[in-house]
Amino acid sequence: PCCQRKKKKKNMCLFSSCVPEFWGDIAKDFFWKTKHAGQFLDYNFDVTKGEIFIKCMEGASTNICYNLLDRNVNEHKLGDKVAFYWEGNEPGDELTVTYRELLRRVCQFANVLKSQGVKKGDRVSIYMPMVVELVVAMLACVRIGAVHSIVFAGFSAESLCERIMDSQCSLLITADGFYRGDKLINLKLIADEALQKCRDKGFPLQRCIMLKHLSKEAEETPLGSQSPPAKRACPDLQVPWNPEVDLCWFTLLCGVSDECEPEWCDSEDPLFILYTSGSTGKPKGVLHTVGGYMLYAATTFKLVFDYQPDDVYWCTADIGWITGHSYITYGPLANGATSVLFEGLPTYPDVSRMWEIVDKYHVSKFYTAPTAIRLLMKYGSEPVQKYKRQSLKVLGTVGEPINPEAWQWYYTVVGEKRCPIVDTFWQTETGGHVLTPLPAATPMKPGSATFPFFGVVPAILNESGEELEGPSEGYLVFKQPWPGVMRTVYGNHQRFETTYFRKFPGYYVTGDGCRRDEDGYYWITGRIDDMLNVSGHLLSTAEVESALVEHEAVAEAAVVGRPHAVKGESLYCFVTLTDGVTYSCSLEAELKKQVREKIGAIATPDYIQNAPGLPKTRSGKIMRRVLRKIARNDRDLGDVSTLADSSVIEQLFQNRCCTAV
Ligand code: PRX
Repeated sequence: PCCQRKKKKKNMCLFSSCVPEFWGDIAKDFFWKTKHAGQFLDYNFDVTKGEIFIKCMEGASTNICYNLLDRNVNEHKLGDKVAFYWEGNEPGDELTVTYRELLRRVCQFANVLKSQGVKKGDRVSIYMPMVVELVVAMLACVRIGAVHSIVFAGFSAESLCERIMDSQCSLLITADGFYRGDKLINLKLIADEALQKCRDKGFPLQRCIMLKHLSKEAEETPLGSQSPPAKRACPDLQVPWNPEVDLCWFTLLCGVSDECEPEWCDSEDPLFILYTSGSTGKPKGVLHTVGGYMLYAATTFKLVFDYQPDDVYWCTADIGWITGHSYITYGPLANGATSVLFEGLPTYPDVSRMWEIVDKYHVSKFYTAPTAIRLLMKYGSEPVQKYKRQSLKVLGTVGEPINPEAWQWYYTVVGEKRCPIVDTFWQTETGGHVLTPLPAATPMKPGSATFPFFGVVPAILNESGEELEGPSEGYLVFKQPWPGVMRTVYGNHQRFETTYFRKFPGYYVTGDGCRRDEDGYYWITGRIDDMLNVSGHLLSTAEVESALVEHEAVAEAAVVGRPHAVKGESLYCFVTLTDGVTYSCSLEAELKKQVREKIGAIATPDYIQNAPGLPKTRSGKIMRRVLRKIARNDRDLGDVSTLADSSVIEQLFQNRCCTAV
């Protein structure tokens, strides 16, 4: 692409010449109510030159919901095409939703939101399981110009409360409950607890719309055409109800019109907020805007998965994460694709479930995470080979570096060496893929995310901020924006600048380490900040530490990552207890519970070690580098001359935790 042309001057803007050619042509495939007037993409990436900003097609107006649904139904005549095959947790629990039906449901629910007073620019929190109504809720927000903030349904009440308050939401949408495998999650109970916490902190949210998912009554058919799935019914579910706040999704829909004029939004109006862990411990509300995100999610989906109209695409992520936003909802629907929307787990009711679903729906493009591959690998090839998988054409991976063994298994066993693997590197912040192969076009190297996507210009910097040429290793940064990059941290633009732009002025800093080989391939080496990647989910060590020290028995805590065969990294926690407290199994269980309750199950500590002393420098800084080695039982500690008291090290090695708690 023109963007990859050799630049003459350092930091020269390439966009002026190539953006109108490349992204401008793509923008023509979308509907714009009004055209943009100024530059296609305007930006400043250099903190020393003023405020950081990125603007794409500012002044143009559109509505993403209109582009995703109305145009596909009316202009592209895809009304009868399946948008989603919903596959429930329980095999046999299924629904089919066409583009026309989805549009009708979205319009109806958009009218419900309006009747509840939700207006353009208002924030709406969504805390739901993987059901079609989650897509309906998000697109209904988009239709009326409201900003959705989806909170993964595995997060705790505390985490939900924090996100509701930070985004100053005016409404919460949730569900009664759901099953993850055979485990019942009473979501409404958690949502209520979160709302109580909000009230206690002076933020009384007035309205909560609840979808009856498990406790559905027979006549309340969810999406019209089919009989209600029987297997997920859970008549015993206890659903607390507060008539002053709670509203029933189905009751609200009664008699509501299924026509709703879209709200035309500026290309730079906010589209959604999605929280991601921050190294200070407080999650950051990553804000994406309308126009650029739409172009980027749609184009990366189309090219990276080589999308063809007869494809059946399946991304196994949860919509509560960015992968689900960009590559379950926005990217596929923008292309008129048919997707599988899966509520369950890869191991329920057995470890063949994924391949059973692939055969059932003839999935051709499949996108999952290395952690899922490693989990299934443990059971060997037999559960995979029970199913034919002939429909598969492209396999994708995302979330963390994929180790060569997992890559080979995915390629050989799952894809039978027929299917290219697209190892897609990106972040909540990037909105879509930034380093990725194009299937069958880019020669693959197992474990490498290969090359930048069109218009993305990476660089590798050393500690002094100098760009390294040729084969090298250092900080992965980007030199200029692409349409889908985040615009700010919601409510805290300064944090946006500090986190991503202050360390190396002129560059967006990813926080990842990276190596470039002699062929120019990029290899992500992992996070270089205090973040951990557990099963493809980023967690900040500071967040887990603060959850631990909130327990009265804990005086100090330090959390590091320890390699884990399935999860990639596991959480190894060192805790120093307050004077007079003795360490016990029950305390350990309490601490584990404490972290689950504060953050969510994904942050549950794997190892907790009683650490009467922690290795600190003379200035009192904890030496995490040393703790990482202790957690791994690696005695090659390197230089420890700055330690204030080196005797703690031997003590910590002796008391190492060998088995997970
Ligand atoms: O460390 C990188 C890792 O996941 C981080 C982004 O996490 P999050 O914002 O939660 O988004 C995950 C889904 C896009 C990155 O900074 N990461 C993501 N994809 C890859 C990866 N590391 C290596 N290879 C990848 N393909």
